[in-house]
Amino acid sequence: MIGDAASFHQIADSRRSIRNFLPDPVPHDVLERCLDSALKAPSSSNLQHWEFVVIRNPETRAKADQICLDQRLLKTAPLLIAVVTHTRTWNRNCRYILDTFKERGILRKSQTRYWGTLIPWAYRQGPLGCFGAMKFAASRCLSLFRPAPNMLSKGSVRIVAHKSAALAAATFMLALRAEGFDSCPIEGFDPWRAKRLLKLESGAEVCMFLAIGKRSDKAIWWDRILLPKKWVIREM
Ligand SMILES: Cc1cc2nc3c(=O)[nH]c(=O)nc-3n(C[C@H](O)[C@H](O)[C@H](O)COP(=O)(O)O)c2cc1C
Repeated sequence: MIGDAASFHQIADSRRSIRNFLPDPVPHDVLERCLDSALKAPSSSNLQHWEFVVIRNPETRAKADQICLDQRLLKTAPLLIAVVTHTRTWNRNCRYILDTFKERGILRKSQTRYWGTLIPWAYRQGPLGCFGAMKFAASRCLSLFRPAPNMLSKGSVRIVAHKSAALAAATFMLALRAEGFDSCPIEGFDPWRAKRLLKLESGAEVCMFLAIGKRSDKAIWWDRILLPKKWVIREM
C-alpha cells in the first residue's frame, strides 16, 4: 500500500546477500511479478537498456556457474539470472516508444523531437566510434564555459546502460524480498565467457548475475557493516 513506509523499510533492511539457499524453487508467478516490477525501474531516457536472461537449461546453468568462478553460493541457488546491458538497442527502442505514443493517440511534437532527433544524435557513434568521441570532446570543452550535457561517447553509453540495468537489478532484488525470496548479486565472473555463453550481440554485456531463491539458516555470512553516515552522506 502506498504510504506504508514501514513495510518498505523492513524489506530494505532484511535484504541481504544470501550465500546459502533452501532447495525450494522460485514459483513462476513470483518471478513474473518481480520481473514486472524490475522492468518499471527508471532508465535513462526510458531506453530500458537491459535484458534479464533467466537461465533454466541445466547445461547452460552448469557453464554459467563455472563462469561465475563456481562461487559457493551457486551450489544451492535454485535459479540464476543474468542482467544484461545493451548499448545498441536504442534505435529500436526509440522507434518503439514513438510508435506506442502514436498508437495511443498521445504523440506530441516534443516527444518526436526527443526520441526521434535528440536521443539518436546523442547515442550515435559513427564509424569506429569517431562521432561519439568528437561529441564527448566537444561537450567537455563546452563545459569549461557553460553547463553542457555529456553528448555520449561509446564509453558514456556503456556507463548509462550499466546505471539503468543496476537500478532494475536493485528493484528486482527488493521485489523478491517483498515476496519472501532472496538474492545475491554476482560480479565475480568472467565477462568474456559470459558474453559468449549468453550469445550476446556486440555492444551487450553482463552487468551482473543474480542468484535467487529462499534463504537457509546458514545464508548470511557476515554481520552487516555500514560505513559511518558522514562518509557517505554529505550536505552542502
Ligand atoms: C555489483 C555487486 C557485485 C557483487 N558481487 C558479488 C559476488 O560476486 N559474490 C558475492 O558473494 N557477493 C557479491 N556481492 C554482494 C556484496 O558482497 C554485498 O552486497 C555486500 O557485502 C553487502 O552485503 P549485503 O548485500 O548482505 O548487505 C556483490 C554486490 C554487488 C552490488
